[in-house]
Amino acid sequence: MFSLMYETPSSWVQDVEALGTLTLLSDHAHCELKAAATMQALVAKNPTCDSIVRTLPRFAMEELEHFEMVEALLRERGGKLAEQDTSPYADGLHKGSRANRKSLLLDRLILSHIIEARSAERFYLLSEHLQDRELAEFFGSLMPSESAHRIMFLRLAEGLFPAEDVQARTAELRQMEADLISNLPFEARIHSGPKQ
Ligand SMILES: [Fe+2]
Ligand SMILES: [Fe+2]
Repeated sequence: MFSLMYETPSSWVQDVEALGTLTLLSDHAHCELKAAATMQALVAKNPTCDSIVRTLPRFAMEELEHFEMVEALLRERGGKLAEQDTSPYADGLHKGSRANRKSLLLDRLILSHIIEARSAERFYLLSEHLQDRELAEFFGSLMPSESAHRIMFLRLAEGLFPAEDVQARTAELRQMEADLISNLPFEARIHSGPKQ
């Protein structure tokens, strides 16, 4: 469903809910901010690439709208945006993608595709399995747009690079991501590993 090589078990949702959803929401708000920042950086670093310049700004605005929604919900629930520790997921992806890299831009687009896919998978699981139904619906309402972002990044890559390069690199990076996230520590974060 999300074209990922590791499927998160539904028990991950119960484990996250037991830890506390305010921490998860603060992490989620930071993820939305980072998604917007990544899109803006792609435009700034590729100013002569029409498809990137014309596509990404409106998606960056959408991610900022998501940030506002998550932050408002967090506040409504008595929580507050917390300081963010570095993300072992993002760091691991960037380190892991250095091996066999042919093009930095291709890797950035494919990694963004994979991160959006993983977010969509986690939102889907949260929407299905959270006991807190209000929060479940909130995640369910965001899932389609993260899934659309997943497809948008892959289309951008396909428009800029030969199909066989995109396919081969996507397969390598999907495997790398699966190995990474299945071994990350468990935390109340959108991109944490499963509880061992
Ligand atoms: Fe988003
Ligand atoms: Fe997104």
